[in-house]
Amino acid sequence: MHQGTGPTDHEGAATEGEARCPYSAGGALELHRGGELPWRRLRERHGGLVPVELEPGVPGWLLLGYKENLQVLRDQTYFSADPRPWGAAGVPVRSEALGLDGAGHQRLRAPIVDALARADTARLVPVVERAAVHLLGRVAAEGRADLVGGYAAPLPALVLNELFGLPDEYGRLLADVAERSWSTDPGEAASAEREAHGYFRGLVERKRREPGEDLAGHLLAHPNALTDEEAAQALALVWRSGHEPTTHLIGNSLLRLLEDPAVWTAYLGGTLTPEDFVDHVMWTDPPLRVMAGRYSAMDLRFAGAHIRRGEPLLFGLASAHTDPSVSGGRDEAVSMAGNRSHLSWGAGAHRCPATAFSREVVRTALDLAVDRLRGMVLAVEPADLRWRPSLSVHGLEELPVWFTATGERAQRDEERPPDRGPARTWIRRRRRPAGQGARYQAPLAGPAREGAAAAEAVAAAPRPRRRAPQGAGARYQAPFAEKEAVPDPLDRLLADWRSRR
Ligand code: HEM
Repeated sequence: MHQGTGPTDHEGAATEGEARCPYSAGGALELHRGGELPWRRLRERHGGLVPVELEPGVPGWLLLGYKENLQVLRDQTYFSADPRPWGAAGVPVRSEALGLDGAGHQRLRAPIVDALARADTARLVPVVERAAVHLLGRVAAEGRADLVGGYAAPLPALVLNELFGLPDEYGRLLADVAERSWSTDPGEAASAEREAHGYFRGLVERKRREPGEDLAGHLLAHPNALTDEEAAQALALVWRSGHEPTTHLIGNSLLRLLEDPAVWTAYLGGTLTPEDFVDHVMWTDPPLRVMAGRYSAMDLRFAGAHIRRGEPLLFGLASAHTDPSVSGGRDEAVSMAGNRSHLSWGAGAHRCPATAFSREVVRTALDLAVDRLRGMVLAVEPADLRWRPSLSVHGLEELPVWFTATGERAQRDEERPPDRGPARTWIRRRRRPAGQGARYQAPLAGPAREGAAAAEAVAAAPRPRRRAPQGAGARYQAPFAEKEAVPDPLDRLLADWRSRR
């Protein structure tokens, strides 16, 4: 669902002069060339939507206005989520809830909605806390951290994995898969894709055999009776839709707190509630700024343009959020806090079914980071932060911070596999905050795959032990010990993954 090219792009963050000339000879915006998009200029020149080229020779439309984005999100008569009838080149074919309309969509969506509803606050918060406390504990004694690679990125993988009902080591695998899916090496990205597929097929197979009171178990037990393939796709969709945007909502929120003292003070002082703050970030720094996923169901005229049947439409969420009809722009964003009419969760039939879930994860993650990493400041100038090279995902590659070190130094190096690759140094370091000592002087080096490394040690964290069944006596102890477990596809996936690291 979420893919593209190009770094951050608040209205005005890239000046009109800096933005490249984005047009091809035919007048369509060549999205495949990447780069910043000058939203305001595009809106002024084109109004509610602009013709684009997704790939050379593949036409489409980018929705710019708030009204136009909302209309297409809500409408299932003129705009379809199903790419299959059109077979448009360059568009991924999906046969899951997100790629279907009508009854077919509802049949696949309902089990996801119902399973997520079981992960309510009481169940979810302890899971998030455990993963967050562990990840923060790993850096607490260091006095510095990359809060994306070491925190915001592995956290949703660990949380979702636990909710799927698998042991923590699979959460490490999932965090690693997510990180490698961004690899510029096509072989690495393809192998991550294969592992993700194996994980979800294996998860379904195991949960059919050993049903549990977890998200996967509830999904499989749903009366809509999904097939194994449908269930694996549904769980993969939850993962794919949930992981990356949650990571970047946490990362973008932490950055907003760190770079804006007024927001920081309002947040810590309680005048800006966590819920309102998350909405504020959803307006100003939405983790998804461009989103694919609709096709015109017929030839039609829309917002002054003639759109042919089957042409893909992309949602320009970042543009919608800075449309003067709903927002005066970033400067007025604080006054938008608490205003939930942003489009970051989508709208209509496909609206994100995990809004409450995501808010809870993000709120808990922010609270714990702010609470545990006292005196947190950015370790580089904001202009030197590196952003994901994506038109679609708006999120940081890394968020280097300093804070007051506490506690024991974690055994990070011992836990790291030997092939971590060259250490990375953050560029143009900020001056050290006053009062911090020699421990801050070492170069801010981090392994290229720190996220997975950070996730790695969760397996070592103490887990609540299951109580023995009531009345279980000595007869339970002997026979099981002699049985040799037959490895299932998930066991094999984990063993392969371990052996390659
Ligand atoms: C900050 C975090 C998140 C954001 C910004 C976000 C955003 C969205 C958006 C915009 C859509 C609608 C897509 C469309 O209309 O084409 C969507 C759908 C979806 N999201 Fe989220 N999401 C987030 C987190 C999550 C999480 C944590 C989960 C699961 C645990 C999740 C599961 C889904 C699913 C399954 C759909 C498809 C629903 C359908 O097609 O009926 N999302 N999300």
